[in-house]
Amino acid sequence: MDCNFFDYLPTSHMASSFFLLLFLSFSLVCSHAKHSVTWTYGISYGRIADNLRAPETVVTLLKAAKVNHIRIYDADHGVLTAFNGSGIEIIVGLPNGYLKEMSTGEDRSMNWVKENVQAFLPGTQIRGIAVGNEILGGSDMELWEVLLPAAKNIYGAVYRLGLKEIIQVSSPHSEAVFANSFPPSACIFKPDVVPFMKPLLQLFSQIGSPFYINAYPFLAYKNDPQHIDINYALFKDNRGI
Ligand SMILES: *[C@@H]1O[C@H](CO)[C@@H](O)[C@H](O)[C@H]1NC(C)=O
Repeated sequence: MDCNFFDYLPTSHMASSFFLLLFLSFSLVCSHAKHSVTWTYGISYGRIADNLRAPETVVTLLKAAKVNHIRIYDADHGVLTAFNGSGIEIIVGLPNGYLKEMSTGEDRSMNWVKENVQAFLPGTQIRGIAVGNEILGGSDMELWEVLLPAAKNIYGAVYRLGLKEIIQVSSPHSEAVFANSFPPSACIFKPDVVPFMKPLLQLFSQIGSPFYINAYPFLAYKNDPQHIDINYALFKDNRGI
């Protein structure tokens, strides 16, 4: 498989105390996405924390920082309502706990997409559904089994609702799917991941979705500072990846 380009998302100015859990996302995109997703950067809006600002306040802060793209880890209706009319494009998440149920039938997926995506369109600009998070390479093998059927059913629902041109269905993975993690261009999948990853990538190829990796360059650096240039972790000039 060829990795065509890296899509780095440097937004260090957003890492203020307001946003303890706004993690930067680094998407490694390896596909020929036929959709119009040509994002340059965005932020992940995590909400597992205390003293969180109200979603409406977050919208204001994001606009001030000129952040036009976000990912959330669920499809929280309060958040989706707050982003109505904001012009900010959103990838919602189908949490891991739903995968088993979604894998059992397209009617379940249809209901989920209707209630959590379609109901908020077009005012809230949902543009993607992340089906599960970091499943392959993770510890729960049952989830490895249900990821593909769940992704198929979610896509089937999106397709039948006539939303396939605006909603991209994918599934982000961690670097745990790789046997090595540096340099990224030399990564190969772990042998036990391959039988699950291959059909998933075939699906994404068929439906024109990208392959997403949640990459944390500083973790790679931390694990091997002797061989990895710190500039790689700091987004400064380096020899390439
Ligand atoms: C989004 O805002 C528009 C305009 O105010 C409104 O008509 C629409 O019902 C809102 N959508 C949702 C899902 O609340």
